[in-house]
Amino acid sequence: MKGRLYGVGVGPGDPELLTLKALRIIKSVAVIAYPAPEEGASFARAIVARWLSANEREVALLFPMRPGPASDAVYERAADALAAELDRGLDVACLCEGDPLFYGTFGRLLPRLATRYEIEIVPGVSSLGAASAAAALPLVQGEETLLVIPATLGEKALSARLAAADAALIMKLGRHLEKVRRVLSSLSLLERAIYIERASLEEGRVLPFSAVDFGDAPYFSMALIASREHH
Ligand SMILES: C[S@@+](CC[C@H](N)C(=O)[O-])C[C@H]1O[C@@H](n2cnc3c(N)ncnc32)[C@H](O)[C@@H]1O
Repeated sequence: MKGRLYGVGVGPGDPELLTLKALRIIKSVAVIAYPAPEEGASFARAIVARWLSANEREVALLFPMRPGPASDAVYERAADALAAELDRGLDVACLCEGDPLFYGTFGRLLPRLATRYEIEIVPGVSSLGAASAAAALPLVQGEETLLVIPATLGEKALSARLAAADAALIMKLGRHLEKVRRVLSSLSLLERAIYIERASLEEGRVLPFSAVDFGDAPYFSMALIASREHH
């Protein structure tokens, strides 16, 4: 019999934001898999490290930390590594930072495995909730709408969509910080924007975007444009 695959959201960083269900599954499976950079530690693994035991097999799914989406071959290789464990009849928990299906690696693995294996998704606290909590600002209320947008988009697309938004979360700031600053400034949104880094972690930071004086942002950062009502 084939094993069962769990896509387990482990939250935005604070281990206390792990769900009880995620913890139960992590403790019960034979194999723990997680995305990891080619060099350095896996953030998803670090979040749950205190609950891992030597009895579980660990499978690191290596993703190159180069700008832009990983290639199909990289996802195929990761899916194959999970399939190898499942074909041995072992249950696998694939850890995902935040929520597995919110800009998550697991969203790319799911269609590659869904027809062959039994899969259960365990939702996690996403960076979306962690960011508004860190800023202590409501994201949206009443009839307001929220735009969630990756900073990787071109300047024109960012500008057009942000111009029409009540409130917005700009993900994946990283090396796109300067471009985002230009767009926010040209739309007179700088004063409403908050910069949020490593939300939910002790070393996390929340700053008015206008006070950000560095060129590139770390990977785990985003900008929140509060709606006018909450600004
Ligand atoms: C590939 S997406 C993964 C999102 C994740 N699956 C989730 O549910 O939040 C990575 C982006 O999410 C955002 N992010 C994730 N965790 C974060 C955190 N703790 N603080 C700030 N931003 C975070 C950053 O914009 C980062 O570039």
